[in-house]
Amino acid sequence: MTTPTIELKPSANPLSAAEREAILASPGFGRHFTDHMVTIKWTEGRGWHDGQLVPYAPISLDPATTVLHYAQEIFEGLKAYRRPDGSVATFRPEKNAERFQRSARRLAMPELPVETFIEACDALVKQDKAWVPAHGGEESLYLRPFMIATEVGLGVKPANEYLFLVIASPAGAYFPGGVKPVSIWVSEDRVRAVPGGMGDAKTGGNYAASLLAQAEAAAKGCDQVCYLDAVEHTWVEELGGMNLYFVYGDRIVTPSLTGSILEGVTRDSLLAVARDLGYEAEEGRVSVEQWQRDSENGSLTEVFACGTAAVITPVGTVKRAGTEWKQSGGEPGEVTLRLRQALLDIQRGTAPDTHGWMHQL
Ligand code: COI
Repeated sequence: MTTPTIELKPSANPLSAAEREAILASPGFGRHFTDHMVTIKWTEGRGWHDGQLVPYAPISLDPATTVLHYAQEIFEGLKAYRRPDGSVATFRPEKNAERFQRSARRLAMPELPVETFIEACDALVKQDKAWVPAHGGEESLYLRPFMIATEVGLGVKPANEYLFLVIASPAGAYFPGGVKPVSIWVSEDRVRAVPGGMGDAKTGGNYAASLLAQAEAAAKGCDQVCYLDAVEHTWVEELGGMNLYFVYGDRIVTPSLTGSILEGVTRDSLLAVARDLGYEAEEGRVSVEQWQRDSENGSLTEVFACGTAAVITPVGTVKRAGTEWKQSGGEPGEVTLRLRQALLDIQRGTAPDTHGWMHQL
């Protein structure tokens, strides 16, 4: 595989410092974008080429571009954090790069070399470093690498041309309430992914498929939808855009990777952070019946959602057809908050990076 260099073509008109600071004061999630983006092309027979860092701008696509019709698209999400000394580091970018390769294989797309993925993210963060929010708050710079099929034509086949891009967006809490517990609607009829499908790939189609169930969750007054497995409609899989953890006192359990669950980087990191803190941490199966029963008998002490965007968000209320219950009295649980703090301390550079997870720029 070829590794293209990234040619720097910075913007002559970046946003003024005052405008940028106004955005950074209250960035929300995914609403504002930095001054630049990275683009790299792939063409059959030529491989990866024309890596560029250019001003952030709309891209022009022919109406017959294949991604617009057959959704050959994959994406990633990772964050850059401001450290106490003012420097910037990203969290486990190689994990995202490797997952991006797995997603590419699943969608019959070319694999971007891990080092090119990291180089592209680094180039953008270095160029737009002023957009990385100050150390000490909840905010960080969210990076969104993605790849689309750009061949023009309506034949259903793997495309012969692709475009890889990285854009960046200053991000506060994904849920407007921050660490306020969220409510979950357990969908027992709609499924997110099926065995042999592409549930373990990070592709827009999985998120599109989640929107109706997410809207149904919202109609029930809930923040997120929770999916069960597609065969038995019994085993808890994940939420619309994040993984789940169940806390049984000093033991935490997350649903095992069955092929229809996304292998979250935060999910994986928490298995290690929890063990560092002396908890038992394991992957296993949790049924929705067990979830309800163990919450009601008090053995299941906390539940939380996790993901790059959501970090760790406590679950406060769970609803399923005809019934609902409170999780840890509707308040953020102690273990949830402890794990959240431990992970954020590593990411923000206020705790030792014993696993070598931080990628310093
Ligand atoms: C992420 O956590 O990075 C995701 O891609 C989830 C999405 C719902 C924002």
